[in-house]
Amino acid sequence: MKNEKMKSLVEVYICNFQREDSQDCFNKGAKDLTDQLKKWAKDESNGEVKVIRSGCLGKCSEGIAMACYPQKKIFTEVKKDDGEEIKKGLKEALAEIKNLH
Ligand code: FES
Repeated sequence: MKNEKMKSLVEVYICNFQREDSQDCFNKGAKDLTDQLKKWAKDESNGEVKVIRSGCLGKCSEGIAMACYPQKKIFTEVKKDDGEEIKKGLKEALAEIKNLH
């Protein structure tokens, strides 16, 4: 078995699940939000933020749902236009984590 240290300090899981009844995060714009944040993380976070398209987080009626680690927080009622606010929060989380190390 091999292992290596992960580069990411913050991981964001955004639900992109699609349900038959369309009451899901995908239909509320999760794909566009995820694409936007993935691009930002790749271009500007130097690999320290990882954005992951996830399955259902069990908050369908409150979607878009998003979970962040290591903060262990779940966000609900996220809107597809919340990208800038999320980026700001992720930058603050990164700064906080780096100050601890
Ligand atoms: S469909 Fe997103 S939390 Fe269930």
